[in-house]
Amino acid sequence: MNESLIETEGLTKSFTVKKTTVHAVADVSFSAVRGELVAFLGPNGAGKSTTLRMLTTLIPPSAGTARVVGHDIRTDAAGVRARIGYVGQLTSGSFSQRVRDELLSQGAFYGMSKRDSVRRADELIGSLDLASFANRTVQQLSGGQKRRLDIALGLMHAPPLLFLDEPSTGLDPQSRANLWEHILDLRTQHGTTVFLTTHYLEEADRYAERVMVMDKGRIIADDDAASLKATLAGDVLTVGFAAEADAERARAVIGRLSSAAVTRDGATLSLTVSDGDRLLPVVVRELDAEGIVVQRATGVPPTLDDVFLALTGRTLREAGEGAAETEEGEPTGAAGTISSTSTSTSSPSPSATAAASPTTSGVLS
Ligand SMILES: Nc1ncnc2c1ncn2[C@@H]1O[C@H](COP(=O)(O)OP(=O)(O)OP(=O)(O)O)[C@@H](O)[C@H]1O
Ligand SMILES: [Mg+2]
Repeated sequence: MNESLIETEGLTKSFTVKKTTVHAVADVSFSAVRGELVAFLGPNGAGKSTTLRMLTTLIPPSAGTARVVGHDIRTDAAGVRARIGYVGQLTSGSFSQRVRDELLSQGAFYGMSKRDSVRRADELIGSLDLASFANRTVQQLSGGQKRRLDIALGLMHAPPLLFLDEPSTGLDPQSRANLWEHILDLRTQHGTTVFLTTHYLEEADRYAERVMVMDKGRIIADDDAASLKATLAGDVLTVGFAAEADAERARAVIGRLSSAAVTRDGATLSLTVSDGDRLLPVVVRELDAEGIVVQRATGVPPTLDDVFLALTGRTLREAGEGAAETEEGEPTGAAGTISSTSTSTSSPSPSATAAASPTTSGVLS
């Protein structure tokens, strides 16, 4: 069951354009096992697509290698390609073929017999909800429908491993939710291993059991979302009072309950803790016992953006175009800045074991 479907060793890719070398992917080592759903996050330019393009044999690595479904990307590209599906970052563009014919052509491309292609196309039309527009041409489809077709195309030959580069980008919330249902179904029905990139952090948080964060070509975190949030970020507790003097008195009380640094903004105190759901009611009770009136108390669980902030000092939104660059002649070892926190995993991530984050507490009065 723990069969490794992706195993990378020092995977590296540099591009040199006009004497400047971009270290798009720098010495990346990780593995993913059968059945995993891995979300690959990172700011624009982090190296996610480049990693996927190497793993799918579209571009060769500059150094290092990977085995994908047991085949080496450097020496056996055909062996890899036959066993994976890949849906790139850009949509399929406009085709004048009908949806069903598009699927059948893809089957032929993979060397499937006509009979197998027809059977598989029908199966995917069913499972990806394409039936109502299977006879339309591709250019008549909406963005969400086209993206579902893209995924069906990647699955025609029933690969055990599917790479999706930003499958949900640009879709409305309902289409995104719908697409995710299909992705999750693929796993339940066919045991497909899915490795995908997304900029929607809440999607990764909610659906992926494993989150890998890339920044400047390096993997800087690799774990389940709950553990990442519990270990790298915390719940932000905010307690509001009628007056600054109350807040100052409260600060002393809270100081006895938690060692976390407490900051004050006017009559509001805030602190970041790992056990907010336990601590918040205790704080409110103690303040009450001291006769300090709490006007407002909230606990906000961390997001994956807080995790990225904790790792890099930047939010994902601020961090775009972050690939490391060197001028020609500089040592390439200068790539990447956060190697001390790099993780390389050779075993599957533990399942979510961290304490559940508190749900946002309502406003107390
Ligand atoms: N063919 C290429 N030639 C030169 N530079 C490239 C090439 N492909 C990618 N790069 C550079 O490599 C870096 C990583 O790009 P990549 O597309 O992998 O980022 P990404 O993480 O997928 O970003 P995004 O979230 O914007 O899709 C970027 O700085 C990019 O400009
Ligand atoms: Mg990309």
